[in-house]
Amino acid sequence: MFNPKDTLRIGDKFQRGNAVEFVFNGITVEAYEGESIATALLAANIVSTKFSVGGYPRGPVCFMGSCQECVVRINARKMLACQTKVAHGLVVEFDGPKI
Ligand code: FES
Repeated sequence: MFNPKDTLRIGDKFQRGNAVEFVFNGITVEAYEGESIATALLAANIVSTKFSVGGYPRGPVCFMGSCQECVVRINARKMLACQTKVAHGLVVEFDGPKI
């Protein structure tokens, strides 16, 4: 399990939402309410959210809904990780072919 306190987050100078956990490809990720899935994954040092058709890892680039590189599957629906807030118990999976 990734602990957000040991990752890329900036200290404790910010007031954050309540801690939550969600699952990304079978890995439990800790995050805070109000964060996007893409932000929580990046803070947990997970930079790839899908594989391209050619099999190359892809991940969030713009964090504002433009590049479409952060597409993940949530309950079998394609969603943008940068535009979707984390929620406790959410199950998120890679999009694209399994490598
Ligand atoms: S990071 Fe570009 S659309 Fe999500």
